[in-house]
Amino acid sequence: MTAPQAAVIAKPPHPATAERAEAIHIWNLHKRFGELEVLKGVSLTARDGDVVALIGGSGSGKSTFLRCINFLENPTSGVIRINGENVRMVSDGEGGQYPADRRQIERIRSRLGMVFQNFNLWHHMTLLQNVVEVPIHVLGMKRDEAVALGEQLLERVGLSEKRDVYPAYLSGGQQQRGAIARALAIRPRVMLFDEPTSALDPELVGEVLKVIADLAKEGRTMLLVTHEMKFAREVASHVIYLHNGVIEEEGPPETLFGAPKSNRLKQFIRTVS
Ligand SMILES: Nc1ncnc2c1ncn2[C@@H]1O[C@H](COP(=O)(O)OP(=O)(O)OP(=O)(O)O)[C@@H](O)[C@H]1O
Ligand SMILES: [Mg+2]
Repeated sequence: MTAPQAAVIAKPPHPATAERAEAIHIWNLHKRFGELEVLKGVSLTARDGDVVALIGGSGSGKSTFLRCINFLENPTSGVIRINGENVRMVSDGEGGQYPADRRQIERIRSRLGMVFQNFNLWHHMTLLQNVVEVPIHVLGMKRDEAVALGEQLLERVGLSEKRDVYPAYLSGGQQQRGAIARALAIRPRVMLFDEPTSALDPELVGEVLKVIADLAKEGRTMLLVTHEMKFAREVASHVIYLHNGVIEEEGPPETLFGAPKSNRLKQFIRTVS
């Protein structure tokens, strides 16, 4: 089954690395669930404007990696620096660690916009209420300002006319575009996407990829877990292939997809394309 793809986009001009500030820096991240070590020393730096695609087989640790970045999971060890802040961790005395300061985690989360596979809009709120909820009640934005921002974001994702509709009356693609608008409403420094189209019917995939491609074109920084290889090749500035919790290979998309070195990656690309 071939899902429709977003139109090919021209990648934004990508200024030299040194000119762009670091948005996220992860060093030697490990994550263990009991006996199972899911991440075995993963490192990554994303600078403003980078679009980093994470690819890899099922169970390779992609979601766990994203979940560690916004502390939905506590990494077992490693350094996480977001928005220039090193997250302070303390040992739990049992080989793990947890954040030393919950307020720091809240602050860092407010710089990250997360979009999951299952468009997790709040079902008891209209679309506009979904988008303005966090800006008003968590970030303290004035209602008028938040509504103006919310309307602008809904227009951006093509949902202006749905502002007063409840999620149950929206298609999967519309819900996911709404979830993207909601994530953008906190004015995040980095957007994190975890397979944002994998729960969608094939005919709805293209409209969501188009929104993400537009964000990439604007120069938004993002980490994107995706199984849409053609899309990753078009929008990413850097691609990471994760296998069994380690980075097996990484590089610019042209090299990674055009001239993969590792046999595992070659095989993976054959399987998914
Ligand atoms: N809370 C948890 N407790 C125990 N094991 C877990 C937990 N979350 C994930 N795992 C295990 O960690 C491994 C990596 O899972 P993860 O969800 O990160 O993979 P993934 O690369 O996102 O896979 P997929 O492409 O299927 O989404 C799997 O073996 C999974 O079973
Ligand atoms: Mg996953």
